[in-house]
Amino acid sequence: MPRTPYIAANWKMHKTVAEAGEFVDALLPRIAATQSDVVICPPFTALTAVVERRYGTAVKVAAQNMHEAASGAFTGEVSAPMLVELDVEAVVLGHSERRQHFGETDEALARKVPAALAAGLEPILCVGESAEARDAEQTEAVLERQLVADLAAVEGGELGGVVIAYEPIWAIGTGRTATPEQAQEACAFIRDVLRERGAPAEEVRILYGGSVKPANAAELLGQPDIDGALVGGASLDPAEFAEIVAAA
Ligand code: PGA
Repeated sequence: MPRTPYIAANWKMHKTVAEAGEFVDALLPRIAATQSDVVICPPFTALTAVVERRYGTAVKVAAQNMHEAASGAFTGEVSAPMLVELDVEAVVLGHSERRQHFGETDEALARKVPAALAAGLEPILCVGESAEARDAEQTEAVLERQLVADLAAVEGGELGGVVIAYEPIWAIGTGRTATPEQAQEACAFIRDVLRERGAPAEEVRILYGGSVKPANAAELLGQPDIDGALVGGASLDPAEFAEIVAAA
């Protein structure tokens, strides 16, 4: 069975509750005919505003991070059960901005991914190499190291419930997109690593992220191993994001 395309809007630290509501109201009529999974990842404060508007539509809602514990003395953190209570369905884990600016480690991710799955949240695990690693031809080594470490505590069979986002750090927010060939090669490699880990690799959705725009979406999404996109900057405008959804 072909994999259902998966197009996710990673808003990062953008949009108030009011702005989130306006976005969803403008987006829904534009994507009414889509057969793809459309996922919106708002900041924690705007999760409920998006959840309430998307009932009865194809839109799913994801948080941008979570703590691995269900509760505890972790000031400033949010847990998987708290997200599930809001009817959030998925969670972005290991985004490179969290790894770079907030000290997110592979060890923490190895606990977060199974905690998300156990709570019934679909993890969207981000992996990707730096410019230096790509120049040193270390892309595959970095991807394999991240995947093996971050998924260490997930049984092969359970990996069908994980979404992987390949996001080369040098392409995020830079306007510099990976070529379709580079992105396809990395996503195919990720699928091979998952297969070796015992995953039902043909079922796993693997996304590309990094300066995806309406102008480059169709070519990227046309690659055999690219099943969707994690869109940052271009997901903030409903018309632009709807064009990317339409390209899938
Ligand atoms: P970008 O961000 O589309 O703005 O490059 C992608 C991401 O960080 O997920």
